[in-house]
Amino acid sequence: MEQDTIKLMKEMAGKAAVDNMVKSGMKLGLGTGSTAIHAVRRVGELLASGALRDICAFATSFQTEIECEKLNIPYFSLNSKELASGLDLTIDGADEVDPLNCLIKGGGGALLIEKIAAYASTEYVITVDESKLTDQLGTGFPVPVEVIPAARIQVTRVLEKLGANVILREAIKKAGPVITEHGNIILDIRFGSPIKSSLMETELNQIPGVVENGFFCVKKPVVYIARSDGTIETRLAS
Ligand code: A5P
Repeated sequence: MEQDTIKLMKEMAGKAAVDNMVKSGMKLGLGTGSTAIHAVRRVGELLASGALRDICAFATSFQTEIECEKLNIPYFSLNSKELASGLDLTIDGADEVDPLNCLIKGGGGALLIEKIAAYASTEYVITVDESKLTDQLGTGFPVPVEVIPAARIQVTRVLEKLGANVILREAIKKAGPVITEHGNIILDIRFGSPIKSSLMETELNQIPGVVENGFFCVKKPVVYIARSDGTIETRLAS
């Protein structure tokens, strides 16, 4: 599929989710990435026009914070008095979505705060273009595993024993690995044969040194899927 078409589909999905789900007065989690950014921009547009009021946002990354600053979207810490009671809704993107609405997230490295936002939210919406749909998670798009730097080799060894091919995520325009917003490294892993992603999500987090992993199988979202024919499918969690 052409890049321009995919870009358009990402924008459609982000906008549709905001237009259908976001109401004035909401405590709103805002995701990270090239699809979620369209939702952020739509919230900014609606606030600027007066169609939306009194949004208290939570930004899941520096990327999203900076976009909120540009658009005058007020954002707060999850520990603030504004958001400590939780979020009404979070809108985010995903790298892959399976038929049960299980996800891989973290292609942009923001998986840790994205998962915290998902769990803190009453409603959870994922926006994707149809190229993100897959039958099997874990054998195609790599699953990011956020690891404390001191545990790099030990965690790699355990992951390999679990059958994963492990690649340390390298930075661009900086020598050495990507360092996350929490001072950790990312190991991108891919399995050679099908695995059960919901079990693997739990198993990965039991390895000492793993902070979080990019399988999102517990908090089931409603998925907004932008199709190349210009339609949006809304798929409920089964
Ligand atoms: C960020 O860490 C991710 O979880 C993104 O939500 C995910 O990688 C999807 O990004 P795109 O919308 O840019 O494909």
